[in-house]
Amino acid sequence: MDLQNSIAVLNFGGQYAHLIRRRLREAGIKCELIPYNTPLDEVKRAKGVILSGGPASIYEKDSLKPSFRIEELNIPVLGICYGHQLMASELGGKVEGSKEREYGKARVRILAESQLFEGIPQSFSVWLSHSDAVSSLPKGSTLLCKSEFEDKAAICYKPERLYSLQFHPEVSHTEYGNKILENFAKRICKCNGNYIAEDFVSSAIRDIREKVGNAKAICAVSGGLDSTTAAVLVKKAIGNRLKCVFVNHGLMRKNEPQEVMRILKGKLQLDVDYVDASDLFLRSLKGVSDPEKKRLVVGKLFAEIFEEYVSKEFEWLVQGTLYPDVIESSMPVPGSPKIKSHHNVAGLPDSIKRRLKVLEPLRDLYKDEVRIIAKKLGIPDEIVSRHPFPGPGLSVRIIGEVTKEKLEICREASWIFEDELKKAKLYDKLWQAFAFVGDDKAVGVFGDKRKYGYIVTLKAVTSSDGMTASYYPMPWKVLDRVSRRITNLLDKVTAVSYSISNKPPSTIEPQ
Ligand code: XMP
Repeated sequence: MDLQNSIAVLNFGGQYAHLIRRRLREAGIKCELIPYNTPLDEVKRAKGVILSGGPASIYEKDSLKPSFRIEELNIPVLGICYGHQLMASELGGKVEGSKEREYGKARVRILAESQLFEGIPQSFSVWLSHSDAVSSLPKGSTLLCKSEFEDKAAICYKPERLYSLQFHPEVSHTEYGNKILENFAKRICKCNGNYIAEDFVSSAIRDIREKVGNAKAICAVSGGLDSTTAAVLVKKAIGNRLKCVFVNHGLMRKNEPQEVMRILKGKLQLDVDYVDASDLFLRSLKGVSDPEKKRLVVGKLFAEIFEEYVSKEFEWLVQGTLYPDVIESSMPVPGSPKIKSHHNVAGLPDSIKRRLKVLEPLRDLYKDEVRIIAKKLGIPDEIVSRHPFPGPGLSVRIIGEVTKEKLEICREASWIFEDELKKAKLYDKLWQAFAFVGDDKAVGVFGDKRKYGYIVTLKAVTSSDGMTASYYPMPWKVLDRVSRRITNLLDKVTAVSYSISNKPPSTIEPQ
């Protein structure tokens, strides 16, 4: 990993360590999370270092320590929580188990001026989570702020270089936490905030060219933001040596395959082969009603079709993997049960990966960063702002067996819902919004006639990453219009409902 011009966060296993990287990246600063024992020579390449929190006490026998002494780093260092105690103890202070554990919110008061707290009021709320505390300061250091419990909340050991915080600035409950991290990166480490907007694309292109050389690459594109951005970036780097394949599994949104192909081939000038496998997918899904089985059928068939394209001429497989996918698949919580098989989170099966080297140019990025880059690469708004769509498509929005009839209802009802949300200027506020349908039916009366038809459920959620989600309090007026349009236009539907479940306990997709 290239740490040049970045802030390196040494990970001591704290539950918030990833958030430090997230916050700095939101401020446009290049930042990488690296193992706590990364060698000095590598860490030194960074512009500054943050020592993260961690679950242990620094006095425990096997507690994690950096592979060097803090003073050997001639760059600025900021310790947070466990990192605060490490620094205080190593630089000559004392750390002891405190009588009262401090968990949760507390107020702190600033006692001395510093670059770290520039532009921040004298008193503010912070988030604490620790049992050890610094009981005496190293000689020559300055106490920058104190908590309401007399805790030594922030210390400066050497102005413009060595600082530490007992509280967590990366947690949203800490007021001005982002500002503190930004002050450290920009004022103390002299980082600029233009990493994504200015430096990412050119350095990614350089990197791809270096890796791929004169070889050829292949990419399965879906028209979603991630695979499209990855493909456009790789095309910029290696031109016509990139081949793309678009598999229409027949489970896409209304008009999606045509629109996607128009954009990929036309505007983005990608070399894309179109494979219409919709009948094959529908046949393979016949009689399958278990949600996990449906996901597996779609994933397996997709891989088989794609594999036919992977001839010997290709050496590289391009994938639109993002940082949260990397974290999810590389650091599972041991023993945690599987909720769903997200087949393209873990990527394509090993049989393909064994034949090809994997190129993942976005694996360091978050979704919002990908959106910025996509815009910079000229990817049209239809793709950049389109709601995420699951790999198995509408099959996970149809409860029970996927039939042509239910597929049609699901697709049309979702289209009507999206259309009304766009008209009401609500579409861009939502993470996802769609309709789903199952086998339950309700009796209706149309004119003077009895009708027995499907129940369609609408769902609209807000979320920042899809891991948790809240249902959107949809205005009645919008729901009313959508409901009437659906029952008027879709002959086989007699009732419309709205889902008011959050994730957890629900998941976003019903299957
Ligand atoms: P759930 O339903 O687990 O979904 O709450 C969370 C987010 O992930 C999307 N999703 C998928 N995306 N392949 C994907 O690429 C999948 O198999 C898949 N299943 C769910 C879902 O749309 C939501 O944004």
